[in-house]
Amino acid sequence: MERKEQIKKEIFEKVKEYYAEVHQPAFCAPFIEDTSRINYAGRVFDEKEMINLVDSSLDFWLTYGTYSKEFETRFAQYLGVRWAFLVNSGSSANLLAFFTLTSPLLKERQIKRGDEVITVAAGFPTTVSPIIQYGAIPVFVDVELETFNIDTAQLDKALSPLTKAVMVAHTLGNPVNLDVIKDFCDEHNLWFIEDNCDSLGSKYDGTFTGVWGDIGTSSFYPPHHMTMGEGGAVYTNNPLLKKIMLSMRDWGRDCYCESGMDNTCNARFSQQFGTLPWGYDHKYVYSHFGFNLKVSDMQAAVGLAQLEKLPGFTEKRKENFAALYSGLRDLDHYFILPKAGPKSEPSWFGFMITLKNGLKFTRNDLVEYLESHHIQTRNLFAGNILRQPAFDTIGKDLHYRVIGGLPNTDKIMNDSFWIGVYPGMRPEALQYVVKKIREFVKKYE
Ligand SMILES: Cc1ncc(COP(=O)(O)O)c(C=O)c1O
Repeated sequence: MERKEQIKKEIFEKVKEYYAEVHQPAFCAPFIEDTSRINYAGRVFDEKEMINLVDSSLDFWLTYGTYSKEFETRFAQYLGVRWAFLVNSGSSANLLAFFTLTSPLLKERQIKRGDEVITVAAGFPTTVSPIIQYGAIPVFVDVELETFNIDTAQLDKALSPLTKAVMVAHTLGNPVNLDVIKDFCDEHNLWFIEDNCDSLGSKYDGTFTGVWGDIGTSSFYPPHHMTMGEGGAVYTNNPLLKKIMLSMRDWGRDCYCESGMDNTCNARFSQQFGTLPWGYDHKYVYSHFGFNLKVSDMQAAVGLAQLEKLPGFTEKRKENFAALYSGLRDLDHYFILPKAGPKSEPSWFGFMITLKNGLKFTRNDLVEYLESHHIQTRNLFAGNILRQPAFDTIGKDLHYRVIGGLPNTDKIMNDSFWIGVYPGMRPEALQYVVKKIREFVKKYE
């Protein structure tokens, strides 16, 4: 064995030992009622993630490299999509997905400033931010209370001659009604961006979410279905969108050489671009005004080990959701519990609970009770984004349209919260969550 390989082996042995000493005990610690903290999400990993991370650090390539390339290939295979590209967050993935659709290469289908994009106000802000950052007009429709997803019955009302796209998330892992949205987009020649950041591993009609639209996006931030710390991905089956998204991810360049490569096109100094001199170095030719949204190879190295675990994580999320649902289903006089739509198999991100009207307690009463018993809770992100300072006060001059009064979006902002179903949750923890919720409501019977 080469000396280099020998040293690596010794380092990896030490990493394994370190994992067993430092991190593993947390995964094995006994659950103690009223003491152990029940997080809404968290990283689940073993020594393999740490060894990959150290391996890529030892390579010291640092930027996009062999792990990144392998991750992209394997992730695309997993999803069943032609191309997947890594970016540095889910928000960057949404930014890139949207800006890809603003490329002049798309001719009459290019989204221009002032064009409209149908979306929802109940969700995470960076599903909507790129629309505004570019200067397009978000058109907000309401959501359904049981699925917390876009109410597709409102799509026709939202349509105008300016509509160019639909951009929505599968909220908390619950797939939107893809049949209706796809038909609507096809009929009206609209782009469809699926924010798949909270729904990796969910299926609709037997096919993964994220690959139904023109572009899908993922987040690999720690609470998500798998993690690489910071990270995200965009994916597509469309060759032109693929070309644009790579250009925009990598500074807007025309060149498509991988990091460290030169002259992949074999015509580096023998092409004409714009009014540049003939033979201007293709490496420095720009076909878009782009970004630099690339990941480091260390992130991809962690992601690759996580990808192996993803099918298991998906099953665990489903099981954990089922355990909470069966423990709480008879409390339906208090709560609107989550519901998957037809043809859907969600890989749940969380377990949403919405209080019914006219109860003697509020969402915050219940949430504060759970938090005081070490059960972490979360609101549905921005609630109604139109009521956030970014829209309502600081951003009061922004242009947008609202279809109807968004009563369900407001209801979710006021009366909903969610708790975790992540793969690190123990059956005892889930039982304890059920017990505490039941104890709380009993006080009001
Ligand atoms: C639906 C949705 N989209 C996008 C994002 C942004 O992902 P990131 O935190 O990786 O930027 C999130 C974050 O949780 C999200 O929930």
